[in-house]
Amino acid sequence: MLSPLEAAKQTAAHKAINKHVENNFVLGIGSGSTIVYAVERLAERVAKENLEVVCIPTSFQAKQLIVKHGLKLGSLDTHPILDVCIDGADEVDANLNIIKGGGACLLEEKIIASCANGLVIIADYTKNSTKLGDQYKKGIPIEVVPMSYVPVRNKIRNTFGGEVNLRMAVAKAGPVITDNGNFILDWVNFKQLDDWKEVNTAIRMIPGVVETGLFLQMAKIVYFGQADGTIKEQT
Ligand code: A5P
Repeated sequence: MLSPLEAAKQTAAHKAINKHVENNFVLGIGSGSTIVYAVERLAERVAKENLEVVCIPTSFQAKQLIVKHGLKLGSLDTHPILDVCIDGADEVDANLNIIKGGGACLLEEKIIASCANGLVIIADYTKNSTKLGDQYKKGIPIEVVPMSYVPVRNKIRNTFGGEVNLRMAVAKAGPVITDNGNFILDWVNFKQLDDWKEVNTAIRMIPGVVETGLFLQMAKIVYFGQADGTIKEQT
């Protein structure tokens, strides 16, 4: 028996797979805990309906999930255009501004989403907010080249305020290293900023920054699973 939170993730994930996957699709597979339910449902549909689907992973975790469920694994080398990308989120505001990267996979997630004809977000009710930062307190992740993390941290702090922390690993005495060999800075306690596009552009211009976890107006639809079993849709 799933908890209300896990059931909400599952409801959103199943809805996205049922509605947005068709035969012969090339599909981006996101990362995190919600996507696990989506891949389970996808494997069911592929088996029952004999679907031909190629899955492009956004992380090491996604690749393992695809392989574990016997789905067809692809890459951008062979499939540079995707029909749809399905992924989780850490927070979604009222204007479809999204924070991603809690699992440190934001770079691949953004690249894959940018190659898809649509990004479909699956999330539970705790991810739904009015303004970025209202719900998700772990901050906006920023992937940086290791040698640049101190100057990048200082520049973000001095320009926009808040605190910027190097994400540390749990089972290792050192920082989290992304799948691309980079560090993650988490920008927390930032004040409410009106133009996230401008902020995102300014941060991405700092030498050493590889990508941010701000996914701005990239999603075509967000499914929020609710505690009562229903789904809230946001477009
Ligand atoms: C991974 O880097 C993230 O962007 C995840 O997609 C995000 O953290 C959502 O994860 P959950 O589905 O576990 O909430």
